[in-house]
Amino acid sequence: MITRNIFLFLAQNDFVKNRAEKWGPKFGAKSVIAGETIDEAMETARKLNEKGLSVTVDHLGEFVYNKDEAIDAADYCVRTLNAMAEAGVDCNLSLKLTQLGLDIDKELCLSNMRMILDTAKEHSNFVRIDMEDYSHLDPTLEVLQELRRDYDNVGTAIQAYLFRAEKDIDDLKGMNLRLIKGAYNEPPEVAYQKADDVYRNYMNIIKRHMLNGSYAAVATHDHNIIAEVKQFAEENNISRDQFEFQMLYGFRTDMQEQIASEGYKMRVYVPFGNDWYGYFMRRLAERPQNITFAVRGLLSK
Ligand code: FDA
Repeated sequence: MITRNIFLFLAQNDFVKNRAEKWGPKFGAKSVIAGETIDEAMETARKLNEKGLSVTVDHLGEFVYNKDEAIDAADYCVRTLNAMAEAGVDCNLSLKLTQLGLDIDKELCLSNMRMILDTAKEHSNFVRIDMEDYSHLDPTLEVLQELRRDYDNVGTAIQAYLFRAEKDIDDLKGMNLRLIKGAYNEPPEVAYQKADDVYRNYMNIIKRHMLNGSYAAVATHDHNIIAEVKQFAEENNISRDQFEFQMLYGFRTDMQEQIASEGYKMRVYVPFGNDWYGYFMRRLAERPQNITFAVRGLLSK
């Protein structure tokens, strides 16, 4: 818990962040991030596709401070979607609403999302809204419900550590949802603190969403969850085209390929861009053993 808090603290520490970003994605980050440009991301997507893996890419960059930055971030998403279509890769887009101005002006965020979803629709593609910390949950769901009236190519992620996850799943019935344990440090007033409780609620919302007949993207590196989901789908005659597994780029790659080879849809979440620091620190917070990536990265310099 102490180690987790240290990495979460570092994730938000501007001084360390600025120093680290000056050096570029070293310290192992490069093994979990697909370079800095759209071209590099497309090249990675193509290589993963060749191994039978689907992809979602995320242009890293969580905080924008003004309108122009939010519009630039939205333009970048549009360019990324166009690049996917041009490259012909099996790849969709993940993004964060704070990148698109959620904290600045909700209407601006909505119009940015509409522009992105229109482009995705032109290419018959899908956009996933990542879920951020608890303070952004309600604003994110409000934007999503608004978009849902006009678009069917958008979904979000629901965090099983939150007590309210089950209710949110029910409110979003029919939507393609990514189901996750949750990556942020949330207080006991709103979130389970024990791993066992999170696990139980995670399985609960996965089963509930699947039994609702809705599409579930089960995003986890936890082999126990994956085994339970496979068995549950089998026992309940849930077709393999009603769910997929997702893992992060660079993590448990053997297992990713194994799952795909068994005939399940396996999607790899591929982050790219030069704002990699916060992402990398959160991955270390989740699993300090990932520090081996950092050491390997240093040794390979
Ligand atoms: P967890 O870290 O709980 O580990 C469970 C067990 O799995 C471990 O004890 C170990 O046995 C095994 N294991 C895990 N990682 C391993 C590894 N690298 N090597 C070997 N064994 C390993 N969060 C969020 O808040 N908002 C979001 O939008 C997203 N989006 C997202 C997308 C995708 C594709 C993924 C995979 C994850 C997210 N997350 C997220 C993060 C998520 O909420 C969660 O914090 C992490 O996935 C960690 O939880 P896990 O279930 O993966 O395993």
